[in-house]
Amino acid sequence: MPGHLTTLADDSKVQTLTLPSPEQKIFNGLPFPLILTPKESNFKSADDTVSWLKKNKDQIKCLLLEHGAILFRGFPVHSAEKFDSFVKSFDYEAFPYVGGAAPRRVIIGNVFTANEAPPDQLIPFHHEMAQVPTFPSTLFFYCDVPPPEGGQTPLVLSNEVYKAMLQKNKGFVEELEEKGVVYNRVMPDEDDPASPIGRGWRSTYQTTDRKEVETKCAEQGTSFEWLPKNCLRTRTATLPAIRTESRTGKKTWFNSIIAAYLGWGDVRNDRKKAVTYPDGKLMHEGAMETLENVFESLAIYFTWKKDDIVMIDNKLVLHSRRTFTRPRQILACLCK
Ligand code: FE2
Repeated sequence: MPGHLTTLADDSKVQTLTLPSPEQKIFNGLPFPLILTPKESNFKSADDTVSWLKKNKDQIKCLLLEHGAILFRGFPVHSAEKFDSFVKSFDYEAFPYVGGAAPRRVIIGNVFTANEAPPDQLIPFHHEMAQVPTFPSTLFFYCDVPPPEGGQTPLVLSNEVYKAMLQKNKGFVEELEEKGVVYNRVMPDEDDPASPIGRGWRSTYQTTDRKEVETKCAEQGTSFEWLPKNCLRTRTATLPAIRTESRTGKKTWFNSIIAAYLGWGDVRNDRKKAVTYPDGKLMHEGAMETLENVFESLAIYFTWKKDDIVMIDNKLVLHSRRTFTRPRQILACLCK
């Protein structure tokens, strides 16, 4: 497959893999995601993998920019601890999960559980933490326990979503681009595992001190209000919905509109008001339907295999989560 793989220092050690659509698709002549797998038994241990990564990290980062996402399949990385070492080989700075909406647990080092929202709840497409001003640039997901059914992490190229939406509803895209959006959320006091956005304010802001929460909100330009039962209502500053990606010069659908509109509902929150224009105007229902269909038609969704690692450029690619049957354990590392 792609000729540019020869730029890897130890390219004889890995090969690309092709999966049938819709597990992998071709966009602009490049497979999405790129899938790398060991050739024969070149990697005996996680340590072998780490030393190979260290030699090739710059080239792999280039491949990530070209393809948007890379699935590493069949490497001997058999635990959360080894996954942590795998990620550390790239020398990214860890990204603290402050301000995110999902309930998560720390496993080891910078390794968290992926969003632990209940299995029957679909997590719609989003760029990780697009609803706050600072977000991770690179994400890694590791499959510790593949689910017996469902639970894929569908991926989609953000620029493709932008292009498709521009074609289908230009007026909507132009309004979004011009006005930007705000996100509204009511957080509980303590984490509520029954909700996909059930992360309480104490763990969201990693403090029990209300004053500190207020300072952190102010730093992010988020306005807030304390509610009965010790809940916290937040409203973000106006955030861009469409961005021009600085490295590629391409426009991206860099927002959490569909995630908020479809997924930010629980006993405290009305999902249809979770994202609005800055003047409070709601998203148009028809446009949201079009957007859902666009995501569906462009997405890839590979089936998780034990020890799969997917590396995602968070500025270029949106991800989501399908419903599943337990058990499923996907771990995550976020990087600056
Ligand atoms: Fe996510």
